[in-house]
Amino acid sequence: MHQDDPVPPAPRGGPPPPYDAPVEPVADRRGAGARTAAFGWIDAAREQRRRAGLVRTLRPRPVESPLLDLASNDYLGLARHPEVTRGAAQAAHRWGAGATGSRLVSGSTELHARLEAELADFCGFEAALVLSSGYAANLAAVTALGGPGGLIVSDAGNHASLIDGCRLARARTVVVPHADPDAVRKTLDGHDGPALAVTDAVFSVDGDAAPLRSLADGCRAHGAALLVDDAHGLGVLGDGGRGTLHAAGLAGDADVVATATLSKSLGSQGGVVLGPARVIEHLVNTARTFIFDTGLAPAAAGGARTALRLLRREPERASRAREVADELHQRLTEAGLTVARPDAAVVSVRAPSPEQAVRWAADCREAGLLVGCFRPPSVPDGISRLRLTARADLTARQTREAVRTILRTAPGA
Ligand SMILES: Cc1ncc(COP(=O)(O)O)c(C=O)c1O
Repeated sequence: MHQDDPVPPAPRGGPPPPYDAPVEPVADRRGAGARTAAFGWIDAAREQRRRAGLVRTLRPRPVESPLLDLASNDYLGLARHPEVTRGAAQAAHRWGAGATGSRLVSGSTELHARLEAELADFCGFEAALVLSSGYAANLAAVTALGGPGGLIVSDAGNHASLIDGCRLARARTVVVPHADPDAVRKTLDGHDGPALAVTDAVFSVDGDAAPLRSLADGCRAHGAALLVDDAHGLGVLGDGGRGTLHAAGLAGDADVVATATLSKSLGSQGGVVLGPARVIEHLVNTARTFIFDTGLAPAAAGGARTALRLLRREPERASRAREVADELHQRLTEAGLTVARPDAAVVSVRAPSPEQAVRWAADCREAGLLVGCFRPPSVPDGISRLRLTARADLTARQTREAVRTILRTAPGA
């Protein structure tokens, strides 16, 4: 099992889960009480979460927030860029609010085809397929390429959507230690049949990049394919934001497939699989999250196309996001905090304990700064962190202000 699941796995056979909460007597579960008894086990689960300090709540964001945002994934500051929102609105006016059907029925428009051609061209791949989310893109790629008799080798730090893809795939999955190409090689040794190594390009917890070149070499030596989720690399790494695979010289290779989300750097919504045309054609025919899902909404496709055009015109946005990340890292490290060196725009700051991490993030919010907070079991190594995202549109003053707030609210400051 991957180690970064946010909740313990559900027991096989469905509820009730193994919570030691009192069970209602059978008599109370008949008649009037029967309807409420059906979900009674949920109360015990909630209580268990509360006791472990793991309750999550939704906080609807107002249109104008007074908070300085270092928590969103809007790396290039494009989600509310007037050109991008106009592109989304025009696409909706022209093509409709929804795609009207699955891609193989009525949900493929010329807009989808153009977006796919532009994404493939920008990232340097032969072909592309867009889906309704990055999550769906990962499920599609892993399940369609990891079939019966195959082997999937998956990094222990992979994103939940890759993990779920492995769970749904019919191949055997072996989870290897984080960023360990030798472990991947050893696992591939002696396997006969189709094999696929699966990794994030930039990991969400520590912002570190995967050793893509050695992974690709190891896969090649064994005739295995490499699937890389570039959710955090597209728009930030590579020439003008063309992504981590482009930067590694692997984009367009016959044995490499990439996935990405359109919801981070491109400020929109949706996901994409990029790869050789024969792989994309295979996905169109077999990937269930592509076939049985309504096509990407035209507004999302239009927004992503406009963001891509903007990025081509303003490639400095990619390097600016990296500069902001480096500056955050440098200033916080100099002040004595433990900060992982960022390979892209995710900056991860170590916290002494889960409770202090939660308190620290809450104090930052109180002081006007929005930051992310990672704690067990969402972190593979049990270490809690504040998670900051650098954005290309942060000014030097905002960056300094964010650093001051983090230092002022740090545990023990
Ligand atoms: C590494 C990674 N892969 C995939 C996804 C899923 O993308 P989406 O939000 O478009 O479903 C995310 C986003 O949360 C991510 O961080």
